[in-house]
Amino acid sequence: TLNHLRHVESLATLPSGAGGIPKLNAVILGESLASEEDDLVFPSDDFSRRAHIPSPQKYLEMYRRSIEDPAGFWSDIASQFYWKKRWGQPVYSENLDIRKGRIEIEWFKGGISNICYNCLDRNIELGNGEKIALFWEGNEPGTDGSLTYNQLLQRVCQLANYLKDVGVQKGDAVVIYLPMLMELPIAMLACARIGAVHSVVFAGFSAESLAQRIMDCKPKVVITCNAVRRGSKIIHLKDIVDAALAESAQNGFAVDVCLTYENHSALEKSKTKWQEGRDTWWQDVITKFPTTCDVEWVDAEDPLFLLYTSGSTGKPKGVLHTTGGYMVYTAATFKYAFDYKPSDVYWCTADCGWITGHSYVTYGPLLNAATVVVFEGAPNYPDSGRCWDIVDKYKVSIFYTAPTLVRSLMREGDEYVTRYSRKSLRVLGSVGEPINPSAWRWFFNLVGDSRCPISDTWWQTETGGFMITPLPGAWPQKPGSATFPFFGVQPVIVNEKGVEIEGECSGYLCVKSSWPGAFRTLYGDHERYETTYFSAFPGYYFSGDGCSRDKDGYYWLTGRVDDVINVSGHRIGTAEVESALVSHPQCAEAAVVGVEHEVKGQGIYAFVTLVEGVQYSEDLRKNLVSTVRKQIGAFAAPEKIHWAPGLPKTRSGKIMRRILRKIASRQLDELGDTSTLADPSVVDELIALADS
Ligand code: WTA
Repeated sequence: TLNHLRHVESLATLPSGAGGIPKLNAVILGESLASEEDDLVFPSDDFSRRAHIPSPQKYLEMYRRSIEDPAGFWSDIASQFYWKKRWGQPVYSENLDIRKGRIEIEWFKGGISNICYNCLDRNIELGNGEKIALFWEGNEPGTDGSLTYNQLLQRVCQLANYLKDVGVQKGDAVVIYLPMLMELPIAMLACARIGAVHSVVFAGFSAESLAQRIMDCKPKVVITCNAVRRGSKIIHLKDIVDAALAESAQNGFAVDVCLTYENHSALEKSKTKWQEGRDTWWQDVITKFPTTCDVEWVDAEDPLFLLYTSGSTGKPKGVLHTTGGYMVYTAATFKYAFDYKPSDVYWCTADCGWITGHSYVTYGPLLNAATVVVFEGAPNYPDSGRCWDIVDKYKVSIFYTAPTLVRSLMREGDEYVTRYSRKSLRVLGSVGEPINPSAWRWFFNLVGDSRCPISDTWWQTETGGFMITPLPGAWPQKPGSATFPFFGVQPVIVNEKGVEIEGECSGYLCVKSSWPGAFRTLYGDHERYETTYFSAFPGYYFSGDGCSRDKDGYYWLTGRVDDVINVSGHRIGTAEVESALVSHPQCAEAAVVGVEHEVKGQGIYAFVTLVEGVQYSEDLRKNLVSTVRKQIGAFAAPEKIHWAPGLPKTRSGKIMRRILRKIASRQLDELGDTSTLADPSVVDELIALADS
């Protein structure tokens, strides 16, 4: 088709060599692309013409500048925001090389600004006051609400004034444990307005996980609501918070204030348990406060938020993001990766309890004065057509979700999709795990009527924003590939020795230089930051992901290479699940691995050795699963408990997970060499018990 020619032509007419960016050269060599025609999906001419980045040339021109002159490139973008005082020189400073000393990243240091001001006040000054900032869709169809930018600012200011009134000051932590109500982004923005550091805990985490996070960051205030409906279930969040606060108090840290929003549709006030003196109803106090609130101006490098995420050891890590770089980066990535235009209506299905909800429900979109849909409910309630019902209702034009949701809806049949028009859709997005080509095609062909480019965005809690992502309209896509690096990002693939490999290859995905949205430390543990991310391959930031690059320069993410598993896009450390299991008095030892799961991407598979003399039983199995639910959250419940009289260990006592993974996925002919095991007969026993 003409389209195809246009692209190959434009790809081929780029100057050969494309100076200094060797890995991108492949994409501009038109001939290899032409031969893979079948795998390429081209944006329409019309789409490209209107896109911010309409061609590979435009991308390469901007990309080249972002690498050759990061200070200039990012300063230009940063200048679009309001700064009370402009940043100093140098614009950024970094050391990513552990051999040269302390790892340090700073962007726009000395610049004084406020991200809440830039999301709200600035956009109102630009004439967006009456534009809808948030559409809220409740769990029950027909329950909804909305806030304009003016109204959102007023709500944020009232809460900010309240927080100040109860003593929250710049730098203090505030824990937020809320479902997807508008009050969740309101709470985040209110913290940001007064320079407080929010730490949102996903409201699917258990009391114990919440307590652990509270004890780590010691918040002045915890913000929650009494209960929430999700699908047909009611979850009593306040009870969970009560248990967490009790546990924290027992361990020496008592939270003084628990601000509780009354979610009337889920549970009446009178039925909520209450601790006088500590608990306050949101609705009772907030409206008494003024609807304007002065901004606390902060340095670009002052902390904005903490978000706990899983790593390969048991204790969750408090990923710390600062203000200025994060602001510039989330705004720019949102604009370009979704080709955002002021007329768009944007919906991201992620919960604000995860990084996606921070960067791409709250900050990135609001910095761009976007209209954002916030959805409280579940995508299959009342039926599997709910998403497309919402798309039609709000005329959503950009829809951003996770492969697990795509796969689960795909199973329910096309009819739930085709029942709705979806004609407002323009751009689709995917995040959380690699999207398999068949899910990609279903999403593209059916949901998007073969009209909407898919931005398969690869990034992490740590990166703050998109790192490798399609720019819709700029180049052809390959289903399942996250395509090319965003501006300013220099991904490299290294081998096990940490040597950078060129061209077509696969290995470990690292990043060579800093970008504004990078996390700056792990809260209270800079050493762990350095060893986890910067020691494996000195000189680079190591992502923990495996990756390959094809001959056209496209990047293909292949999943985690460490002991982190990805269940329905939720990051879970195997060690966390193991430590929950072994806390059960009848469990002697546990080893957890990820197995492929049709819908969730990965499922949790646990090998469990019981205490001497204890018998396996169905009751015990249920008990173990509920221990994990209780300690971490329902989303971390093992799919399968495999009774293990013994675990395969080396002579030095190290568990050989490689073998466990093969047993878990029943690839029994691929067990490999088991002769180095202390006791090779363990493997036969495990196989014999596989389906018991
Ligand atoms: C995985 C979520 C492939 C990856 C934003 C990463 C992906 C981890 C993609 C981070 C993608 C995320 N393609 N893999 N488009 N997006 N991942 O911190 O393994 O919850 O390391 O951040 O999710 O998960 P996190």
